[in-house]
Amino acid sequence: MSLRVAIIGAGPSGLAQLRAFQSAQEKGAEIPEIVCYEKQSDWGGLWNYSWRTGLDENGEPAHSSMYRYLWSNGPKECLEFADYSFEEHFGKPIASYPPREVLWDYIKGRVEKAGVRDYIRFNCPVRNVTYCEESGQFTVTVHDHNTDIVSSEVFDHVIVASGHFSTPNVPEYEGFSTFGGRILHAHDFRDALEFKDKDILLVGASYSAEDIGSQCYKYGARSLVSCYRSAPMGYKWPENWEEKPALVKVDNDTAYFADGSSKKIDAIILCTGYLHYFPFLGEELRLKTGNRLWPLDLYKGVAWEANPKLFYLGMQDQWYTFNMFDAQAWYVRDLIMGKLDLPGTQQEMTENSMAWRERELTLETAEEMFTFQGDYILELIEATDYPTFDIEGVRRTFLEWKNHKKENIMAFRDNAYRSLMTGTMSPTHHTPWIDALDDSLETYLADK
Ligand SMILES: Cc1cc2nc3c(=O)[nH]c(=O)nc-3n(C[C@H](O)[C@H](O)[C@H](O)COP(=O)(O)OP(=O)(O)OC[C@H]3O[C@@H](n4cnc5c(N)ncnc54)[C@H](O)[C@@H]3O)c2cc1C
Ligand SMILES: NC(=O)c1ccc[n+]([C@@H]2O[C@H](COP(=O)([O-])OP(=O)(O)OC[C@H]3O[C@@H](n4cnc5c(N)ncnc54)[C@H](OP(=O)(O)O)[C@@H]3O)[C@@H](O)[C@H]2O)c1
Repeated sequence: MSLRVAIIGAGPSGLAQLRAFQSAQEKGAEIPEIVCYEKQSDWGGLWNYSWRTGLDENGEPAHSSMYRYLWSNGPKECLEFADYSFEEHFGKPIASYPPREVLWDYIKGRVEKAGVRDYIRFNCPVRNVTYCEESGQFTVTVHDHNTDIVSSEVFDHVIVASGHFSTPNVPEYEGFSTFGGRILHAHDFRDALEFKDKDILLVGASYSAEDIGSQCYKYGARSLVSCYRSAPMGYKWPENWEEKPALVKVDNDTAYFADGSSKKIDAIILCTGYLHYFPFLGEELRLKTGNRLWPLDLYKGVAWEANPKLFYLGMQDQWYTFNMFDAQAWYVRDLIMGKLDLPGTQQEMTENSMAWRERELTLETAEEMFTFQGDYILELIEATDYPTFDIEGVRRTFLEWKNHKKENIMAFRDNAYRSLMTGTMSPTHHTPWIDALDDSLETYLADK
């Protein structure tokens, strides 16, 4: 009987896994029996935008943390699939920082071409996964909202691809319970127009703070103040945006900061990151980590060392995204199909991971970090038949991107880069990002 494999989640990582198996099948290999369980009613993970916040239509926690007007925050050239270029998908070169809908279309294009949708059971959150030592198999329990039936199936392997930017990390500060305005986490931010003509406080100093603040600026917030716990973002902000040290407390309408300053505010957006949260996994199977480049307990960043029949995809902090998920998915596929071997002992796996962790601990600059992740990806793709690509070129593109952000944080998305997959130079977009209020696919792809 053939192996049975469960994939949890049909976001970019789970879809990479489906495509990896399908590409082996295309080349004549016999692949395992696959079931992909997806909690939402459609594929694409975070890229599948919904206006909903809180709970979804099935009463499940709403997954997506994306918002209207979200554009790629890095060059698309750094995330391009090596087996399906943007040019192939759109039939022409397109500009370098696509809005969400355009990227969602691209993600869908590859898996539509591969014909893997039938593997996915939509509206099916996984409730529980257990492992039986005697049988050497997993039991996966799923709530099928289409039929309202909870049932279990047995699998030889489980691949967790449920993402880690969906369960918000929500700190509380003194005065929050009596603050007179709105307090929300980035996960629940949907439309910057809600904050037009308002004075906004952003807590946090990473991508969400930078991008949600930029959205609010673009769509007419009156003023912004962002505050940092560890280090400032340090960009040249527009004149109505100040960056301050840590928030200490708030009262009815004012925020107080560690440098003794204060500012009147209408709303607080907590851009304080996300938790790795796997409520369906028991203690012995559950990854516990913060958002970092080398989580421990995962051999090659994917195989659960204590029981390497279980895999995780995309659990690292992400400089690289789609093509890293591909590198991981191809590697996991080959482990499952016996084309690659695991080390003989858990100790050897852990030693390998610890060497990566030790290097991770020495990283200081952004350049060192994306070089580290590039080296990791290269190691994976060299072991499989995933088309190799110019990781050094991606590194250079990341560097250019960083410099463009330093030059002008409100205009970096107006730059264009060369595809590392096709060699084609991308056109510049027809409208500067700051003036492009319509982020629809039609408008973005139009020639003017
Ligand atoms: C606001 C925001 C903006 C981002 N912007 C960019 C960007 O511009 N460029 C970029 O490259 N990356 C960006 N990212 C990073 C993003 O993490 C990746 O692009 C990508 O979506 C990760 O894919 P994933 O499949 O690992 O996780 P997800 O996209 O989160 O998909 C996980 C899937 O698992 C499903 N799932 C979860 N739990 C269960 C369960 N119990 N049972 C069944 N299914 C389940 C979910 O419904 C979801 O479909 C952004 C992230 C955020 C939060
Ligand atoms: N496409 C886009 O434009 C876009 C937009 C938004 C997000 N994203 C993506 O979403 C992912 C997540 O980004 P993120 O910014 O949400 O998370 P993140 O990168 O994990 O950063 C979390 C931030 O919250 C701060 N923080 C955590 N707890 C805090 C507390 N108790 N008090 C104050 N500050 C606290 C952290 O500060 P410390 O440094 O002190 O820990 C850090 O600055 C990234 O992959 C990013 O690329 C993309």
